[in-house]
Amino acid sequence: MTLLVVATGNPGKLKEMQAYLTATRWQLQLKPPELEVEETGQTFMENARLKASEVAKATGEWSIADDSGLMVNALGGAPGIYSARYGKDDADRISRLLSELGNTRDRAAQFVCALAISRPDGAIACEAEGICPGEILAAPRGDNGFGYDPVFYFPEKGKTFAEMSDKEKHQHSHRARAFETILPQLDRLNG
Ligand code: IMP
Repeated sequence: MTLLVVATGNPGKLKEMQAYLTATRWQLQLKPPELEVEETGQTFMENARLKASEVAKATGEWSIADDSGLMVNALGGAPGIYSARYGKDDADRISRLLSELGNTRDRAAQFVCALAISRPDGAIACEAEGICPGEILAAPRGDNGFGYDPVFYFPEKGKTFAEMSDKEKHQHSHRARAFETILPQLDRLNG
């Protein structure tokens, strides 16, 4: 097994990533808590690369980072890379989103996830992006998931992400789609 340090302090994110990487030779581990990387990139991918590269150089191990968020068409792609900083907590972020959208008819949106993997010297070895298109509802529905899940309606299943089980969400999510693309690249890497 080769160690792959996840550039996050969030154990939930580590657990979800581990599920996508079962049956691979990669063993995930959380980054050291004192190691903070500032997200100064202008795109999801720039932030993912930055985090993976800095954590790899600081630990001397392979590293994987993701950066994700919600892009709403009628808001010109906002909140985008600022999704996590759009309000003080999930409820606040959702209420800001709904009030900015008001009764706009165009509710199209997409979740985006950028993934980057860095070699121990900080060089990016591979990267992938996953996109999940949907619509923003006028009011939240469902209790599962996190973040913007209760207002993100996924037409293919006729449910919001918060109305899906973890298993169901992980079959369709932006993160699942990014992992699907990066897995074959990972298999070809030499640890
Ligand atoms: P990150 O942890 O810097 O990638 O921030 C991602 C932010 O985007 C989170 O705090 C959420 O607000 C939002 N987000 C990303 N992925 C999801 C998802 O699957 N469901 C709901 N919100 C998400």
